[in-house]
Amino acid sequence: MLQRTFCIIKPDAVERQLVGKILADIQAAGLKVVAMKMIHMTKEQAQGFYAVHKERPFFESLTEYMASGPVVCAVLEAENAITRYRELMGATNPAQAAEGTLRKKYAVSLEANAVHGSDAPETAAFEMSYFFNALEMVG
Ligand code: CMP
Repeated sequence: MLQRTFCIIKPDAVERQLVGKILADIQAAGLKVVAMKMIHMTKEQAQGFYAVHKERPFFESLTEYMASGPVVCAVLEAENAITRYRELMGATNPAQAAEGTLRKKYAVSLEANAVHGSDAPETAAFEMSYFFNALEMVG
């Protein structure tokens, strides 16, 4: 099933000039970029994006961090894109991420974990529409 998922290259990875490497890995894994932009979120925008986590103890720190610098947002398309991109990212905590995954290669901590990806079709739909309108997605 051809599917779309939403990706963020987080502030720690943008700051360390890893955008090109991460996009190269994404494309080498067969995921096609169908929308992309660089933005610097306000804390309120980060809170809206991560609203599902608002009761979690890390919410304040996470949203502060996500607003700390520019990020690259993208929509990726492939057969089973959600699962494939999650496998490419690896475990949320880089200490537990498998060899060869984006978080193993590029993440520095559980919070500054280099990349975000949608975990289900419903969250992918919400997350894509949070940052992109239909005209900004090709194909
Ligand atoms: P992400 O996939 O963007 O989803 C939520 C983010 O919260 C996660 O990656 C991490 O950057 C961050 N985070 C910080 N602490 C935790 C935690 N204990 N469990 C899960 N996510 C955490």
